[in-house]
Amino acid sequence: MKTENNNQRGFWGSRLGFILAASGSAIGLGNVWKFPYIVGENGGGAFVLIYLVCIFIIGTPIMLAEFTLGRKTNLNPVGAFASLKPKSSFIGIGYMGVLAGFLILSFYGVVGGWTIAYVVKSVTGSVLSFTSPKEAGAFFGNFISNTGETLFYHALFMGVCIAIVLRGIHGGIEKACNILMPTLVLFLFLLMIRSLTLDGAMEGVAFYLYPDFSKINGNTVLIALGQAFFSLSLGMGCMITYGSYLSDKENLTSSTFYVVIFDTMIALLVGMVIFPAVFAMGLEPAEGPSLVFSVLPTVFTSMPMGHVVAVIFFTLLAIAAITSGISLLEVVVAYFIDQLGWQRKKAVLIVGLAIFIFGVPSGLSFGAMADIKLAGMTFFDHVDNIASNYLLPLGGMLTAVFVGWVWGTKNAHEEIEKHKNIFKFPWAQCWEFLIRYITPVAVGIVFLAKILP
Ligand code: TRP
Repeated sequence: MKTENNNQRGFWGSRLGFILAASGSAIGLGNVWKFPYIVGENGGGAFVLIYLVCIFIIGTPIMLAEFTLGRKTNLNPVGAFASLKPKSSFIGIGYMGVLAGFLILSFYGVVGGWTIAYVVKSVTGSVLSFTSPKEAGAFFGNFISNTGETLFYHALFMGVCIAIVLRGIHGGIEKACNILMPTLVLFLFLLMIRSLTLDGAMEGVAFYLYPDFSKINGNTVLIALGQAFFSLSLGMGCMITYGSYLSDKENLTSSTFYVVIFDTMIALLVGMVIFPAVFAMGLEPAEGPSLVFSVLPTVFTSMPMGHVVAVIFFTLLAIAAITSGISLLEVVVAYFIDQLGWQRKKAVLIVGLAIFIFGVPSGLSFGAMADIKLAGMTFFDHVDNIASNYLLPLGGMLTAVFVGWVWGTKNAHEEIEKHKNIFKFPWAQCWEFLIRYITPVAVGIVFLAKILP
């Protein structure tokens, strides 16, 4: 199965290409849109500190485990578990991952569509005429409830992802990330300088960097861990799939390190763009999910060169969302290519269309279908909840158990150390301890806390 379809699979052209693509997957709406509003809601600096601990103690070991599984098997998540433990129920982790990829992209595409819409709306200037965040919020609410407009941008976002994934790993995904990721960093630096030079910016810096532990409780820790997972694209085999296109001579440990550092730096950088601006404008940091879409346009409106800044910022957000969207699409596509022997073209077109169609009710959840609720939640909320709060933590925990106990850290070490890549002391011992004991237990606690009433 594996060799037959190799021509449909492809490989990364270079190590840097892989690191940029994996970073492109990790860096997305999770960093640019979700991270700042969660930090704002959970008290600033102390939350940031806990988030960092989660990234390094739980996220990093799981990422290395996923890369290792992917490169060992050169397969999608289902194929990876099936080839290491044939006919075992662990294959279910792979199916859960493919399902999670399908579900996450179905609503991620909706929000991705909003970001493209805001690029267009900031070019035309229509999101740049607000005197208060309230006005901007009303404009945003009005936009996301408009069926025709949101569906159009949702389709456009999915179309872009489909077009890139169609071109395959080396030609499409890698080339796109090679250009997009460095541009993103450059733009963020420019924005940070703009933000930090505003009057009153230092108050925002203090909120963001000074840890006030009185604002931390059990729930905050759970939110931080969940965010670490989502931000690093872990728990559904996304990094198994990206690792499957790696050649044996690449160094897995340093690649993991770069992707984690890159993702974390971007999140921290985005905070340095948002909070100084929010405080300089006398706005509330705990604004919630609408922070980016309703508060920032007000900030841009009252800034010198605000028009340009707005266009750049929303372009960044759209770019980050697209490079994450393509990684989600690739997981599902790789399953159809590897396991069912489909041609890449057929797989991308059918899967992409199916995900878009399934996402339509999510897109309508803020307008035409806003009142259709089950247990108080819209279709969008349910899909997000099932995928992010159930499938991801369960998948991550079981992946850690699989690598730590079933396939075994000895086999993993062997894979990591191929081509004289030494997994150095004490990192190898640290990783082994974390992946066997700490990671499964910690993620298990998050998961139980989510499912218990
Ligand atoms: N990490 C991306 C973000 O921060 C989203 C994402 C892409 C993702 N692939 C994933 C999340 C896989 C969980 C699992 O926006």
